Amino acid sequence: MLLSIENVHRRYALPRTHLFRAPPVIPAVQGISLTLDRGEILGIVGESGSGKSTLARMVMGFERPDRGRVWLNGQDSATLPRAARRQTQMVFQDPYDSLDPRRSIGWSVAEPLLATSMTTTERHARAADRLARVGLSPADMARYPHEFSGGQRQRIAIARAIAPDPALLVADEPVAALDVSVQAQVLNLLMDLNRTMGLAMLFISHDLAVVASIADRIAVMQHGRIVETGPTAQIVAAPEHPYTQALFAAA
Ligand SMILES: Nc1ncnc2c1ncn2[C@@H]1O[C@H](COP(=O)(O)OP(=O)(O)OP(=O)(O)O)[C@@H](O)[C@H]1O
Ligand SMILES: [Mg+2]
Repeated sequence: MLLSIENVHRRYALPRTHLFRAPPVIPAVQGISLTLDRGEILGIVGESGSGKSTLARMVMGFERPDRGRVWLNGQDSATLPRAARRQTQMVFQDPYDSLDPRRSIGWSVAEPLLATSMTTTERHARAADRLARVGLSPADMARYPHEFSGGQRQRIAIARAIAPDPALLVADEPVAALDVSVQAQVLNLLMDLNRTMGLAMLFISHDLAVVASIADRIAVMQHGRIVETGPTAQIVAAPEHPYTQALFAAA
């Protein structure tokens, strides 16, 4: 098993509003357990504020759960050594969250490899290969992010994420900012990378139709909990929870 999320909880304390009262607390994630196999795509769907990104940050090891554990390849993600951490990469809604506007795209794609034992030549070759895999030309390596369209920029962010050959890609709303036709192209690219590289994904979206188009399994989140989970075909054919039914009605 690649990823095992065991009963994780995460609360956020808001700024204190009264001197003598405890500060208000938001229970963002309230006891989530999930597993993901190598090469599998697990879709996480839920409305805004349901705790999807909080869960993603805990999987990435950016934040520790208050309770529970995240295991990656049998290792606790909160204490992973750097090399093992490269096994998990993330793609965000906004490609500029991972691309530096002042750096060429070749530099940005190769940057996650700086801390590895690869030589400059090897890093350059890897970056060229990854750009080609996402449908861009290696000849574009010296160009800058602003010279590309939104869809192309997201492809570049994906090329960067797959540069270190991760086993798991956490994609948090990766197509939410794109036009529908471009969305479909980026979803196809992700499915292609899943097949050709055996890349497992935690694919997060507020849009059930988008999640259903790519995921093998779906977990539906509401208020920090999973209310329904199952194979995509089953969730689509016979959603059981009223919240899942409402998501379909809205889609
Ligand atoms: N750093 C933080 N400090 C305080 N509250 C936070 C923080 N991060 C998230 N929250 C709160 O936790 C809850 C879950 O947020 P989260 O961003 O995980 O939801 P989400 O499902 O990703 O939403 P969206 O679809 O809008 O991205 C929300 O109520 C949010 O306001
Ligand atoms: Mg979010």
